[in-house]
Amino acid sequence: MLSEKTIAIVKEITPLVAANAETVTRVFYQKMFAGNPEVKAFFNQAHQHSGGQQKALAGAICSYFTHIDNLAALTPAVELIAQKHCSLGIQPEQYPIVGKHLLAAIQEVMGEAATEEILAAVGEAYQLLADVCIEREQQIYAEQRAENGGWNGYRSFVVDRKEPESDVITSFYLKPADGADIPAWQPGQYITVRIDHPTTPTSPRNYSLSNQSGSDHFRISVKREPGLTADAPAGLISTYLHDEVQVGDTLEIGPPCGEFTLDTAQPVTTPVVLLAGGVGVTPLLSMAKSLIAAQPDVPLYFLQAARNSQTHAFAEEIQDLRSAGANVRTLTLYDQPLADDLENQNCDDQGVVTEKLLRDWTPFEQAAFYFCGPKPFMQNVYASLKSLNVPADRVHFEFFGPRQDIESARLDEEPEVSVSH
Ligand SMILES: Cc1cc2nc3c(=O)[nH]c(=O)nc-3n(C[C@H](O)[C@H](O)[C@H](O)COP(=O)(O)OP(=O)(O)OC[C@H]3O[C@@H](n4cnc5c(N)ncnc54)[C@H](O)[C@@H]3O)c2cc1C
Ligand code: HEM
Repeated sequence: MLSEKTIAIVKEITPLVAANAETVTRVFYQKMFAGNPEVKAFFNQAHQHSGGQQKALAGAICSYFTHIDNLAALTPAVELIAQKHCSLGIQPEQYPIVGKHLLAAIQEVMGEAATEEILAAVGEAYQLLADVCIEREQQIYAEQRAENGGWNGYRSFVVDRKEPESDVITSFYLKPADGADIPAWQPGQYITVRIDHPTTPTSPRNYSLSNQSGSDHFRISVKREPGLTADAPAGLISTYLHDEVQVGDTLEIGPPCGEFTLDTAQPVTTPVVLLAGGVGVTPLLSMAKSLIAAQPDVPLYFLQAARNSQTHAFAEEIQDLRSAGANVRTLTLYDQPLADDLENQNCDDQGVVTEKLLRDWTPFEQAAFYFCGPKPFMQNVYASLKSLNVPADRVHFEFFGPRQDIESARLDEEPEVSVSH
């Protein structure tokens, strides 16, 4: 536990750190990558370019300092962080490295205002959070090891099938090279793919499992990421997977992780609404299949938003859900349909998810909502659910990037839940 004095000091400097948090983060990364280049391999350098990382760590510092006297408020955030760290194989001995450079960055940005007493208090506070994370991460690693078919670190998997799902999304069916079991996973979880890229060293990437647990393989479904601007490179690993990785190739895979899950082993007592945007359909498809298999009578609403029939993945699999479950409704929206998409009934309607649509189409007063998609989709759904007064314990989401980007609105208003790098 921290002393009252430490808590008081940390709370007192929070506004100053908040005002300079992005600079602190930038300086932190510069110092850490220069002083301890061995940890650079864990960090996706594309996130450094997008600025999301800067904002995310800034958010982490502020949220943590705001809740220094109420660590219980950070519990969901710690679970997200621990699962993410375990997916990447982060180890306890790396915590002092991050702590050292974080403190040095705060010292540099605060200048003379950073007294020894303040730095000691911040160091103590960091250590407390580090201890909480390390403890949970050790538990997760132990659980992974104990699971039938489970492992720690990386294990070789062979690409058994490679199937295009749309013009931009391709599925990879992965079987363990050793022919042994794979562990059960919770629908919604992701695995980690580590590729030694031939030209550009980079970090591992997470991919959600798009099939349901209980078979002899993992399936991931990867969207080809184009460069977002004329001078930006195309996504490194998604392009490599699409263009270079073929059936029979071997990939290094980290075990299933993640806390965006639907526990279908427990009785599901509310209707479930799954809202998928683009490639964000992957964890939700796994949830839908698992729920229907375990509890076919639960009312399930599956909305899929896509650009048009060219980018629309899993059309048949999602249609099939309707015959598999007793109470399944599906809705497909295109925001930019091709000329004949509506006529050919490739989608149900043109448009995007709105508050009105959620009000009219979903049992929003009882349902649990799970959603995943690109940033504008996420922000739109999040804001709509908020307007509908759906309480936070019925709202669950995954974002395929630093989570902070989605929650910035929430952070401004109620800064309790998100800590992010
Ligand atoms: C929990 C989780 C689950 C996920 N599940 C899935 C999934 O099921 N399917 C899926 O397809 N993806 C998924 N992702 C995303 C996936 O992990 C990768 O982030 C995605 O494939 C992009 O990786 P990449 O290496 O192709 O792109 P990166 O090389 O990481 O690039 C990302 C973006 O940054 C841009 N960029 C890179 N360098 C620069 C630069 N110098 N200047 C400007 N812009 C730059 C690129 O153009 C690209 O748009 C998931 C992510 C998470 C966190
Ligand atoms: C108490 C200390 C720490 C906190 C609070 C923390 C917090 C976080 C958070 C919030 C995320 C982002 C989760 C998400 O939104 O997906 C994250 C990601 C990450 N963390 Fe930490 N972390 C800490 C320590 C460490 C350490 C010691 C390392 C080891 C080098 C590390 C390496 C990473 C990496 C590599 C990522 C992924 C970044 C990326 O996407 O490129 N973290 N961390």
